Amino acid sequence: MKTTLRTPVKTDYDAIATWISDEKACSRWAGLSLPFPFIAENLPELLAVEGCTNYCLSDIDNNCVGFGQFWPGKQSAVHIGRIIIAPEARGNGAGRLLCEKLITKARQSTGASTVTLRVYRDNHAARSLYSSLGFFIIESESTDDVLFMSAAANHDA
Ligand SMILES: CC(C)(COP(=O)(O)OP(=O)(O)OC[C@H]1O[C@@H](n2cnc3c(N)ncnc32)[C@H](O)[C@@H]1OP(=O)(O)O)[C@@H](O)C(=O)NCCC(=O)NCCS
Repeated sequence: MKTTLRTPVKTDYDAIATWISDEKACSRWAGLSLPFPFIAENLPELLAVEGCTNYCLSDIDNNCVGFGQFWPGKQSAVHIGRIIIAPEARGNGAGRLLCEKLITKARQSTGASTVTLRVYRDNHAARSLYSSLGFFIIESESTDDVLFMSAAANHDA
């Protein structure tokens, strides 16, 4: 699959908004800070985290098929979040490509030695993806619902 990371534009946020079908999908993707329903044009503001950089994964026709962010994490780590692939594009390796490319960008932009993320314990697809990319669970930073995971940034992702 030929894909690139690029800065999202308004029409990308419009597309991303159509991928979120209900409150559960919304919180799984973006956490409880993103209300559902939301207005697509407000997404950049609603998803803003201090110091964050947003990217969409673009296919060969320049369509947005995925989205993710990174921002400064704890103890000089870089934190990735809001990872999502268009429902019709899932199961074909796009999520792995998105994470690999986002981690590379995050490492290059920040020089961080560690990458962290949070994922719901019952989000098996995402957990499996993150484990296969070298992320491991830090229980002391996790809650009953949400796992905190960490990986060496120079992992060969
Ligand atoms: C999680 C998500 C990004 C995965 O994207 P994807 O394009 O389907 O993933 P890929 O096809 O690249 O698969 C990568 C790995 O993810 C795991 N995976 C993907 N779909 C899975 C499923 N239905 N069940 C279990 N594992 C799955 C597998 O480990 C897979 O590796 P493999 O192909 O070697 O078995 C996608 O399901 C998604 O957008 N989910 C909704 C938003 C979300 O939950 N984001 C996570 C926020 S923390």
